[in-house]
Amino acid sequence: MKIGFIGVGKMATAIINGLNSTTHDIIISGSSLARSREIAEQLEVEAAHSHQELIEEADLVILGIKPQMFDKVLSELTFKQPILSMAAGVTLERLADLTSSNLPLIRIMPNLNAQILKSTTAICTNDKVSAELLATAKEITDSFGSTFEIAEKDFDTFTALAGSSPAYIALFIESLAKSGVKHGLTKQQALDIASQTVLATAENLLIGSDSPHDMIDMVCSPGGTTIAGLLDLEKTGLTASVVSAIDVTIDRAKEL
Ligand SMILES: NC(=O)c1ccc[n+]([C@@H]2O[C@H](COP(=O)([O-])OP(=O)(O)OC[C@H]3O[C@@H](n4cnc5c(N)ncnc54)[C@H](OP(=O)(O)O)[C@@H]3O)[C@@H](O)[C@H]2O)c1
Repeated sequence: MKIGFIGVGKMATAIINGLNSTTHDIIISGSSLARSREIAEQLEVEAAHSHQELIEEADLVILGIKPQMFDKVLSELTFKQPILSMAAGVTLERLADLTSSNLPLIRIMPNLNAQILKSTTAICTNDKVSAELLATAKEITDSFGSTFEIAEKDFDTFTALAGSSPAYIALFIESLAKSGVKHGLTKQQALDIASQTVLATAENLLIGSDSPHDMIDMVCSPGGTTIAGLLDLEKTGLTASVVSAIDVTIDRAKEL
């Protein structure tokens, strides 16, 4: 399949890097012909002379432009093939309006970890998307991480849990590291220790059969150190803080 990208910034670049592991051909069109040529040379893909030329050639178009550019860019184009959008907050209904189309439409929500081909990506489609096209879309999203097929109504929740949470998890890691520094470790030692432990704990939960509660029980020996720290975390309301932060994130997404 020939995949065309309109707009090639940070996220589209990460996706193109993932697609290097597939057999798909790639053509791109950026903010100008000069930019298209520059980016195409860097990424070793083909540059189209214009967005419309890209549309003539591509079997699937991926929109990598910012949501605020959608009106301007899409109003000048006529699509004939399936479209995949990664734009935050742009619904499938709005995408159909903007492209005045009855075409197969796919919406995805990747996250920052696409940079290291470990994005947690949500996907949903309109009812024009065949099983075969959905499989191809998932092959694309799997190429830069893991894919979760969810209902579009759950996209704001997903965005809080996977899109925003890298910032919350980074804050947790930074807090652990600060505690290490308080007790005499260097910042780098403390950050490496905290990051490796968060990574391995998540892997242990994903690979093994233990639930988070099982793991908590295993680490908390009777009368020991961890149960003391754990109860202190809950005294200051870690669970309530996290749930409240996710509520606020979802509320804010609905306002935008
Ligand atoms: N970054 C994330 O973590 C993230 C996460 C989830 C979803 N997304 C979504 O991914 C999309 C891209 O975000 P990003 O972070 O990759 O933004 P970005 O780095 O700013 O990329 C946007 C690209 O669009 C190009 N562009 C501007 N005007 C254009 C035009 N008229 N025609 C074609 N291309 C044009 C820009 O080119 P110039 O540089 O030449 O101006 C830039 O390369 C957004 O819809 C965003 O909501 C991003």
